Amino acid sequence: MKWEGIIKKYRDFLPVTDKTPIVSLQEGNTPLILSNFLSKEIGLDVYLKYDGANPTGSFKDRGMTMAISKAKENNTTAVMCASTGNTSASAAAYSARCGLKCIVLIPEGNIALGKLAQAMIHNAQVIAIKGNFDQALTLVKEITSSYPIELVNSLNPFRIEGQKSAAFEICDFLSDAPVFHAIPVGNAGNITAYWKGYKEYKAAGKTTCLPKMLGFQAAKSAPIVDKHIIENPETLATAIRIGNPASWKTAEEARDESGGIIDKVTDEEILQAYKMLAQKEGVFAEPASAASVAGILKLHKTNFFKNQKGNIVCTLTGHGLKDPNLAIENVQKPSVIEPDLKTVLKEIGIK
Ligand code: F0G
Repeated sequence: MKWEGIIKKYRDFLPVTDKTPIVSLQEGNTPLILSNFLSKEIGLDVYLKYDGANPTGSFKDRGMTMAISKAKENNTTAVMCASTGNTSASAAAYSARCGLKCIVLIPEGNIALGKLAQAMIHNAQVIAIKGNFDQALTLVKEITSSYPIELVNSLNPFRIEGQKSAAFEICDFLSDAPVFHAIPVGNAGNITAYWKGYKEYKAAGKTTCLPKMLGFQAAKSAPIVDKHIIENPETLATAIRIGNPASWKTAEEARDESGGIIDKVTDEEILQAYKMLAQKEGVFAEPASAASVAGILKLHKTNFFKNQKGNIVCTLTGHGLKDPNLAIENVQKPSVIEPDLKTVLKEIGIK
């Protein structure tokens, strides 16, 4: 089948008309990989929804194709977002594709190198603020509500509409909804979108059940778990370094309606899961993505999945190459040796 992106595939579930000019990079249709290591460890089938395989390397492309298509339909000339990196990379790429001006506000010093490179090469106007994501988002909301610039953060309802397509793909692949769905939570748009998607697919008779949603925040950036705004959120998973999520309420609804939980994982647990995915599964995801896997491993230790059957899907939200520095900092550096046969053989253990 020819794949032409999520809008064409899931048109019946999306607010588009014949008048909507579709701006697409053929996003979606990402792998759902059975994890042998995690399945054995936990005793249920664990699948990895590898959304780092999207055109700009993160799940944001699913929502951005919708938000930018609708912005074009409404004759918008400029879009703006606050971002920890992936939203800005995606907004910049989709804007470049259709000739929109794109302005992004990022927290200085807390955005991974690959994401910054993407926004810049796509020619977005990149502005770093001496503050965090939450402050950037407050500014962007103020500006886009006063001037003719379209907000393309996940507060834009078209973003959520597009992102729910990941839930559809999972159900199509598994022929039903999974029993559990684990997902990192930052600004909380994605957990909101998945839950909406699962509910809509069930209502349409495409599935028979709904998953329990398992959301995971980074321990020092866990406002939903700690039940208060975090003024100075911290975590090495900079994508989810957020202290006041915009979709806080709908994330709680997803948790409560599904009978799931939102929990937190430490940076150490995130790093361990990040390395495990790369080294035992061959899947390179960015640290924030590994929060979903760290989360189910944490729950497994408390016997959460005991006597449960069926499958767990973990969303891996972004590609590992987004944050090359973190990868290099956490592995052994290559040895540097003389370029002769004897020395190389010695190095690889052949006498
Ligand atoms: N994982 C990655 C890789 C992300 O980039 C984000 C969010 C999340 C998880 C959390 O998703 O916000 O919908 O709960 N990144 C946003 C950004 C904030 O600006 O790129 P969420």
